[in-house]
Amino acid sequence: MLLSILRWPDPRLSQSCAPAVLDADLRSLAADMLQTMYAAPGRGLAAPQVGRLVRMFVMDIAWKTGDPAPIVFVNPKLELLGDRVLGPEGCLSIPGPVTDIERNAEVRVWWTDLEGVAQEGRFDGFAAICIQHEFDHLQGILTLDRLPPEPRAVAEAAVVA
Ligand code: NI
Repeated sequence: MLLSILRWPDPRLSQSCAPAVLDADLRSLAADMLQTMYAAPGRGLAAPQVGRLVRMFVMDIAWKTGDPAPIVFVNPKLELLGDRVLGPEGCLSIPGPVTDIERNAEVRVWWTDLEGVAQEGRFDGFAAICIQHEFDHLQGILTLDRLPPEPRAVAEAAVVA
């Protein structure tokens, strides 16, 4: 089922999310989020972006150029690694502006998959940036919140109504 994606400045996008409980409802939500992400089209989507304030996000960095390879991150924990890098980011909840955000080049992630199995992985490149962006959503942090006042005002003015 396609879900509607909340748009900034919806206040639900600025709330910290609660731990996710792995049950049939969460599995159904994950499937709907993947379908919604592919339709958007995007490469990452966090539960609060569809109005569900639980700690889960989905990501597929491969599908636009190859075979789909979705990952569902339930209750992720992050360790930031590598150098700080500056790169452009968009957000499905903030249509229009692409803003330069500083991130870490690598991350280590611990999460639970939809079968309840503990997973661990190390990511770099676009995946590392995407994971930090989606993880931010679980804390109620948007790209706009990471910008200094002046670039933030420019970005806010560029949001498509
Ligand atoms: Ni986003």
